Amino acid sequence: MIMRDLPFVQGYIHMATDGAHQGWHERNGGNLTYRLTPEDIKLAKPFFKYDKPWVDTTVVVKNLGNEFFLATGTGKFLKNIKYDPEGNICIAQLNEDGSKYRIVWGLVNGGAPTSEFPSHLMNHSVKFDATGGKHHVIYHAHTPAVIAMTNVLEPDDVKWTRALWSSMTECPVVFPGGVGVLPWMVCGGREIAIATSELMKEYDVAIWSFHGTFVSGENFDLTYGLMHCVEKAADIYMRTMAAGGFKQTMQTQNFIDIAALFGLTLPEKFLKD
Ligand code: 13P
Ligand code: ZN
Repeated sequence: MIMRDLPFVQGYIHMATDGAHQGWHERNGGNLTYRLTPEDIKLAKPFFKYDKPWVDTTVVVKNLGNEFFLATGTGKFLKNIKYDPEGNICIAQLNEDGSKYRIVWGLVNGGAPTSEFPSHLMNHSVKFDATGGKHHVIYHAHTPAVIAMTNVLEPDDVKWTRALWSSMTECPVVFPGGVGVLPWMVCGGREIAIATSELMKEYDVAIWSFHGTFVSGENFDLTYGLMHCVEKAADIYMRTMAAGGFKQTMQTQNFIDIAALFGLTLPEKFLKD
């Protein structure tokens, strides 16, 4: 068995490939990180090498000390991962206090983890505490309908959540917590990482105006499905706007009824008319 055959690497490759097929990853757009389980680490350890230098993460994520992450390389195209995982992705190990990382596998032709690694790490850190370690996947995609929607709807969590929930009945079931939206910020740095992780304390979905979407989830399927659902709802919203706007749509009582049926608690702030 080689590294690329391990189940978690296969799951990662499938998700990256599916995202590329959706048209969410033009060029090197978007990136994916996965926090390894103890079982993954046991299987992958024979392939690790510890000869690369420690590098500053620019954010300190103490609760993730010594954890391992499978991550997209910066500048790499997600569509190419399936052809050459060793050249396009890497496993990075954090040091004891979560302030530095080193590459222990992958990126065999050189390179570094995604420029959004600070945002990924801070989101993993927040979700690690919020879910008791259940969430393992953070995914960033350049989702066209969501980006288009940031051109027409102001960055307001309540307005966005209502707009997306109203576009498709399943939405409040898939993301009952709603979505958070950031105004435009410079990407790739510490500031946007901190702002995104603040939203992730409350939501599993964070939208970056004029840029794309970040989602967090337990496993590859659920995280990909969440991204897909948000993007599809945004697409329906934009189609409706292009067709002349909403003539009728779902009402607050409809969301309350869905919540009762599925045993969900929807935040009060999204249930005001
Ligand atoms: P990377 O190539 O560094 O992953 O950047 C892509 C991207 O989407 C930046 O937001
Ligand atoms: Zn991006």
